[in-house]
Amino acid sequence: MRVDVVTLFPEMIAHALQFSIMARVRDAGAAVFGVHNPRDWTTDRHRIVDDAPYGGGAGMVLKPEPLVACIEDVVRVPDAAVVLMTPQGETLTQAHVRRLARLGQMVVLCGHYEGIDERVRELLVADEISIGDYVLTGGELPALVLIDAVVRLLPGVLGNDTSAEEDSFEDGLLEHPHYTRPPEFRGLRVPEELIEGDHAAVARWRRKSSLLRTLRRRPDLLARADLSATDRELLAEIAAEAVEE
Ligand code: ADE
Repeated sequence: MRVDVVTLFPEMIAHALQFSIMARVRDAGAAVFGVHNPRDWTTDRHRIVDDAPYGGGAGMVLKPEPLVACIEDVVRVPDAAVVLMTPQGETLTQAHVRRLARLGQMVVLCGHYEGIDERVRELLVADEISIGDYVLTGGELPALVLIDAVVRLLPGVLGNDTSAEEDSFEDGLLEHPHYTRPPEFRGLRVPEELIEGDHAAVARWRRKSSLLRTLRRRPDLLARADLSATDRELLAEIAAEAVEE
């Protein structure tokens, strides 16, 4: 996959892409990153990328010409999606992430100031995505959040191919708790089912914990989850036991 970021602050993106999973992605050849500054597509002497809003008011608006020229140069393949990071977009979910991870190219546009000229959105933007109901100073941190979520799904990125499938949200439930040695720490014991290591008992404990955690923390997710007959039995057990998480 190609991942391109269009930003007035390219260092913010380029720096972050050097670390952790992003470095692994690059080293594994799972994705190729590009970072582009629309200022490099200006044609005036002062390299101006913004201007006052028509109709007046505070703040500046990103001009359409350099942004459109930049995006058009950066798009390389027919199955590319131009994604604008904006608090006015759809709230990012794992469903968006899965869809974007199947594309040949994602071009992520970071908004700034009061926003971008509406015609850029009309002409080129396929998706508008928000990372939550709060306002940041720019789209760079949201772009990094989106890119991290997308590239970790690319084949060969996670060491263990099953770990993405076991993530919270992949099956609509939150993940069960995890433990490692020692078996007792400050008086808190690892559940016996996990220590004994009977595979069926471990799987049952994990599924029940996952259902319990989702019920307590995110009942909205549980209401939408695709539950099996066994899941319903486990939920009935949970209700009968009135267990705390
Ligand atoms: N730009 C500013 N705030 C944002 C948010 N919450 N999500 C995406 N882009 C943004």
